[in-house]
Amino acid sequence: MKEQLEKIKQEALSALIGAKESAELEALRVKYLGKKGELTAVLKQMGKLSAEERPVIGQLANDVREKLTAEIEAQKKKLEEVRLEARLKAEALDVTIPGKSQKLGHRHPMYIALDEIKDLFVGMGFTSLDGPEVELAYYNFDRLNAEEGHPSRDWSDTFYFDESSRVMLRSQTSPMQVHAMETKPLPIRILAPGRVYRKDEVDATHSPMFHQVEGMVIDKGVTMADLKGTLNTLAESLFGEGTVTRFRPHHFPFTEPSCEMDVQCHKCGGAGCPTCKGEGWIELLGAGMIHPKVLEMSGIDPEEWSGWAFGMGLERTAMRRFKIADLRLIFENDVRFLEQF
Ligand code: DAH
Repeated sequence: MKEQLEKIKQEALSALIGAKESAELEALRVKYLGKKGELTAVLKQMGKLSAEERPVIGQLANDVREKLTAEIEAQKKKLEEVRLEARLKAEALDVTIPGKSQKLGHRHPMYIALDEIKDLFVGMGFTSLDGPEVELAYYNFDRLNAEEGHPSRDWSDTFYFDESSRVMLRSQTSPMQVHAMETKPLPIRILAPGRVYRKDEVDATHSPMFHQVEGMVIDKGVTMADLKGTLNTLAESLFGEGTVTRFRPHHFPFTEPSCEMDVQCHKCGGAGCPTCKGEGWIELLGAGMIHPKVLEMSGIDPEEWSGWAFGMGLERTAMRRFKIADLRLIFENDVRFLEQF
C-alpha cells in the first residue's frame, strides 16, 4: 500500500504540473482526491491492514492528500497569474497618447430666444404645441377665414403640392390655432413654435423657410387689454425692462380687430437710425382678437368665449435680440458665429 500511495503521489504531481487550465486541475482533483478518487480507493482498503501498519499508512495517506491539495492550490494560483499577465498584455493602453478632444456644441441664438419666450409663456400657464409642416390649405387658410381668392393663397407665395391647391407647406403657424381649438378643451392657452414656408428669394432679411411662434388664448371675458399686457411683458422680457411698444391697426383675416406691435428702437430710442431704417420703431409681430367667424367654424360660441392670438417671426426676433445683421448667418451654422452667443 505504501508503494501504491507513493505511485499515486508521483503520478498526480506530474499530471498537476502539466495542467494548463483550471478545469483540468479540477478534473485531476476529482480523479485523485474525490469521493471516488484513487486515494480514497486506497484508503478504503485500510481495514485489511494490521494494527501496527494502520496508523503509519493513515499518516502517509494524509500526507499525500495534504501535499496534493497544496499542489493543486499552488498550480491554480500560477494559472491565474499567467492568465492575468496575458490579459494585461492584451489590454495594454498607451497612456501617453494624447486624447481626442471632444467639441461640445453650442445653443443656437434663435433657440436661445425661443427658450426665453417659452419660459415666459409656460410660466403664464401656456402649453407649447408641435404641429404639421405639411398642412391642408383648409387649415392654413379656410378655417382662418382666408377664403378662395385671398391674396395670401396665391401660387406665387405658397408652396403647394398639387394642382388643386389642397396640400401645402404651411405659410404660417396660425393653423395651429385651429388644431388647438379642435383638440383642446376650453379654456385654451397655447404656444406653437415651428417652421413655415413662403416663396421668397434668399437675402439679408428673407428666406423661403423661417420660423414663427404662434400664441393663442381663448377664455371667458378675454379682451384686447389682456393681449396688450401679455405682449408688453413679452417685449420687456426679450429686450429689457422699460421697452416701449406701440400697437398699430392692421388687417389679418382671422383677427378682428387686428394690429401689429412695434418696439421702440433700442439703438436710437425712437429718433431714427440705420438699425430701425430711420423709423424709430421696429415691427415685431402681428396680433389681434380672434375673429368670431374663426371661433364659430371651430364650434366655439363667440357670445360666450373670446380670445386673442399673435404670431411673430423667430429669426427676426433673434436678430433684434442679439443684433445680428444678416438672416443668412442664422442658417449657415458656422461655429465661429454661433459661439458668440
Ligand atoms: N400669421 C400671421 C403672419 O404670418 C401673423 C399673425 C398675425 C398671427 C395675427 C396671429 C395673429 O396669430 O393674430 O403674418
